[in-house]
Amino acid sequence: MERENFGNRFGVLVAMAGSAVGLGNLWRFPYLVGSYGGAAFIFVYIIFAFILCLPILISEAIVGRRSRSNAYGAFKKLAPGTKWKWLGAVSVFTPIIVVSYYSVIGGWSLEYFFKACTFSFTGGTTQSELGSMFDNFITSVWAPLFGHTLFLLLTGIVIIAGVKSGIEKFGKIMMPLLFVLVIIMAIRSMTLPGATEGLVYLFKPDFSKIDASVCSAALGQAFFSLSLGVGTMLTYGSYIKKSENLAASSTYTAVADFLFAMIASCAIMPAVFAFGLNPQEGPGLVFQTLPFIFSNMTMGGIIAIIFFLALIVAAITSSISLYEVGVAYLVEERKMSRKWSSAVVFVVAWVMGALCSLSFGPLSDVHILGQTIFNFFDKLSANFLMPLGGLLLVLFVGWKMTKADVFDEFTNGGTLSANRRIFNFVWFLIRYVCPIAVLVVFLSAFIF
Ligand code: TRP
Repeated sequence: MERENFGNRFGVLVAMAGSAVGLGNLWRFPYLVGSYGGAAFIFVYIIFAFILCLPILISEAIVGRRSRSNAYGAFKKLAPGTKWKWLGAVSVFTPIIVVSYYSVIGGWSLEYFFKACTFSFTGGTTQSELGSMFDNFITSVWAPLFGHTLFLLLTGIVIIAGVKSGIEKFGKIMMPLLFVLVIIMAIRSMTLPGATEGLVYLFKPDFSKIDASVCSAALGQAFFSLSLGVGTMLTYGSYIKKSENLAASSTYTAVADFLFAMIASCAIMPAVFAFGLNPQEGPGLVFQTLPFIFSNMTMGGIIAIIFFLALIVAAITSSISLYEVGVAYLVEERKMSRKWSSAVVFVVAWVMGALCSLSFGPLSDVHILGQTIFNFFDKLSANFLMPLGGLLLVLFVGWKMTKADVFDEFTNGGTLSANRRIFNFVWFLIRYVCPIAVLVVFLSAFIF
């Protein structure tokens, strides 16, 4: 069967940016900015995202397009008969772990979207009411499981439709919509009385706040936000036509991802400050602090609907990319149909996700290495498997592939003159700077 490709440059961009822009931008980035001191964190983040992570993103796309294979097949093809295939195996399995807990949060977003549509956050609901609403919801059995199932089904439907008429088409409609939605929210938030303090917090760095924990959180976030280290960008890279400029598409993706995270922060932080709330709320920021703001501001009911809709859309385009890794593997390596492959991934992700979901309630006493199931999956993938996968991947591109092959992909056979000029610099980053930096952060996860 002919392998599918993304249709054109815009299609590549919406697919890659769709993967990158997700809960990581709307939920994780703002709360990390809040917890790690505002603009100083953003400053460190920019350096890591563009100097360390962008070359890794390009490397993943190169492995994908060079091999024209799924994440497992890629290493088998480019380094036949070596142990590198184990990296491929991990790259296929990790996204399934991620998609399982990602879709639990996706399910929460669906629930909160329904709550917003029935105007549950209007008329001055108090913070403690919203806190117990959230606690009661996530610790219960059926409602979160229902959300998780629905979210995974929505993702599965887009996947079954295929690379071009599913993933690409969905992205072309949803990504522009997403930007419009957050821009509306940012405007509303920034025009609240007292919003300036929030903007100062976001844009005026206090460099004395930068320390090792800020750096490690910023690099972890850059990895997560750019979907690195687990074979998603590799798989998408394999659908990019030979005539496209990989480095340019990757750069646009990183820029769009960062812009989106900043607009999301402008939608959230000014409102947090305007209401005199604590920016260091942590993971509860989106599901507890924000609904409080919505229920107390003019037009908050509508803004709540927009916000949770944006959260769902952003989450689906990302979970699609995670889901596709497993499907591409099953279709190409196990010769299964796309439908059956999607069903298999669905079942595995559903079971693991159900365990994650229940670990907030009935299974909260079950611990793996001292963590609840949800936290264990989250930590195992974000702190361990992703950096490890990213590290091995740059080592593969920098030290196992030949310079000539990487050059060939990077410059489309020497035809892209701008890329030819920057190649040596990027090659240096890939060979030396990225592996060392990622190793440091990887190890720091064990030390701190
Ligand atoms: N980048 C997405 C976000 O910011 C999540 C995501 C998609 C992801 N694919 C990934 C994270 C692969 C890590 C690895 O929400």
